[in-house]
Amino acid sequence: MSVIDPQAFRRFEHQGWQEIASKYHDGFAAVTTQSVHALLDAAEVSAGTRVLDVACGPGYVAAAASARKAVPTGIDFSSEMVEEARGRYPDIDFREGDAEALALPDGSFDAVVMNFGMLHLGRPEQALNEAHRVLRPGGRVAFTVWDTPDKAVGFGIVIGIIQKYGDMNVPIPPGPPFFRFSDPQESKRVLTAAGFREVAVTHVPQVWRLPSADALFEVLYNGSVRNAALLRAQKPDVLEKIREELRRSVELAGNELAMPSVLASGKKM
Ligand SMILES: C[S@@+](CC[C@H](N)C(=O)[O-])C[C@H]1O[C@@H](n2cnc3c(N)ncnc32)[C@H](O)[C@@H]1O
Repeated sequence: MSVIDPQAFRRFEHQGWQEIASKYHDGFAAVTTQSVHALLDAAEVSAGTRVLDVACGPGYVAAAASARKAVPTGIDFSSEMVEEARGRYPDIDFREGDAEALALPDGSFDAVVMNFGMLHLGRPEQALNEAHRVLRPGGRVAFTVWDTPDKAVGFGIVIGIIQKYGDMNVPIPPGPPFFRFSDPQESKRVLTAAGFREVAVTHVPQVWRLPSADALFEVLYNGSVRNAALLRAQKPDVLEKIREELRRSVELAGNELAMPSVLASGKKM
């Protein structure tokens, strides 16, 4: 098993997100945004709630919170993502910052949410400790991650094909297992270890509607970090084979792929 260097993984992720920030909206955002309201409900966000949107990307969760008349702040470690968010939602407070070391006072939020951020962190437990610190007693945390690849069919197809045709021994800094928190018990365990109580896990049904059979490859290649790095490291003939097989699989499966998420939440007592 490869040893994870959280700093090397963080640098790799940071560079990746800086590069793809402007392409994210036309790629994964179509699916990640489908869990926004369930996430805000789990964190009990309503009018007046001071809510921190961690790993905010282009700011969709913060914007939905603002539409509920909550008071959102968005944090992302990518300056390019923060610019995307500010450009889209100029009235919301977006800041550059690290999920694992929040430059925010203790007890200053009623809710902390993270939509598909946990699986990009080298030290996700530390991010939950930070969420706990910045929450007031009684405040709630909630995060989403993708369900396992047998249920999140888009990932199932991709992983199956890359593993079958690709070279997995490429020089990419190893990160924590992508589906670690898809396991409800593991999500409950880390939330409890961070000090949260009333811990709960639910599933959110989501569907990835691909505009074409090629879109699965395009979104991964241009709009993701770990999978894109894996694809870019392949030899040209292997990459072409992967592209063809992905297209063929979508043609067989249809353009609407199940992509449920796992939604975990807890309360600071
Ligand atoms: C999959 S995107 C999710 C964006 C957004 N929350 C959404 O719902 O679409 C992951 C985001 O996490 C951010 N990110 C990754 N590691 C981070 C860290 N350590 N601190 C803050 N943001 C981080 C990336 O820059 C990226 O914007």
